[in-house]
Amino acid sequence: MTVKPFVKWAGGKSRLLEYIRENFPAELGKSVSRYCEPFVGGGAVLFDILTRYSVSEVLINDINAELINTYRIIKETPKDLIADLTVMQEKFWSLDTEKRKKYYYDKRERFNCLKANGDEAANPEKAALFIFLNKTCFNGLYRVNKNGLFNVPVGAYKKPLICDLKSLNNISKLLQKVTIMCGDYKQCLDFADEKAFYYIDPPYRPLTETASFTAYTKVGFTDKEQIELGCFVDKLTTKGTRVVISNSDPKNSDINDDFFDELYSKYNISRVTAKRMINCNGDSRGNVSELLISNY
Ligand SMILES: C[S@@+](CC[C@H](N)C(=O)[O-])C[C@H]1O[C@@H](n2cnc3c(N)ncnc32)[C@H](O)[C@@H]1O
Repeated sequence: MTVKPFVKWAGGKSRLLEYIRENFPAELGKSVSRYCEPFVGGGAVLFDILTRYSVSEVLINDINAELINTYRIIKETPKDLIADLTVMQEKFWSLDTEKRKKYYYDKRERFNCLKANGDEAANPEKAALFIFLNKTCFNGLYRVNKNGLFNVPVGAYKKPLICDLKSLNNISKLLQKVTIMCGDYKQCLDFADEKAFYYIDPPYRPLTETASFTAYTKVGFTDKEQIELGCFVDKLTTKGTRVVISNSDPKNSDINDDFFDELYSKYNISRVTAKRMINCNGDSRGNVSELLISNY
């Protein structure tokens, strides 16, 4: 079974999967039987592992509360979610461009209203809106403004697949054995031991000031946070945990920038070439080198 992420996500790893797979520990699914993804995003690597390896315990986490709410709803009440998405899909498909626009902005407003409400309890309506907006917004991008409100304009897809019934059902089945947490990645430390594998995919360090895209949440991820993450990786390493980390390669814009070479000097650093898919600065699409770092 192949399962694709249920949302398009900035920094999604579908296109880099073949290289990341090459770096999975050889013992994965055998003596390495526990998996953790502290910055899960759209979960491209998670779903690859869940469908191809026999892992006994899985922990995922992300700081984006709306994303994590959607994982929880897919896991716990997929039928209700599918029913809501089916209604929205039929309605959206039946409308002309002007009416679609109004429908989209009404849904966006409702989503932001629920989001601002800050209710921590699992919310099926918010999950349905989250998927609807991701499938119909411009470029499938999730971006919030400084007040934390989702601000992406409507997209121009003719017949977007808003309710992928088969995929949502498959994902729901796969998630049954997954523990889902919402918050800072540091809360994932206790899961680590010598049987665990962590794939760590934080917000990328921007290649240039203007190319910065870190608006998954209203809180940014600066060099200070990258350095703290380096300390977190050291702690995992001390516990005997296998770790792979992704990040941007600063050498794309400045050949003398050794930020990650220094931060991860104890580990194995490889460079892979990837196509950038989502970037708020359209000009910087193209091939760039990315880093894959492992502690084994
Ligand atoms: C590069 S994306 C991960 C993409 C993911 N690998 C995929 O395939 O879609 C980084 C993720 O880190 C999350 N994030 C940002 N700061 C965080 C933090 N302090 N702790 C946990 N997650 C965080 C963002 O919400 C985002 O989903």
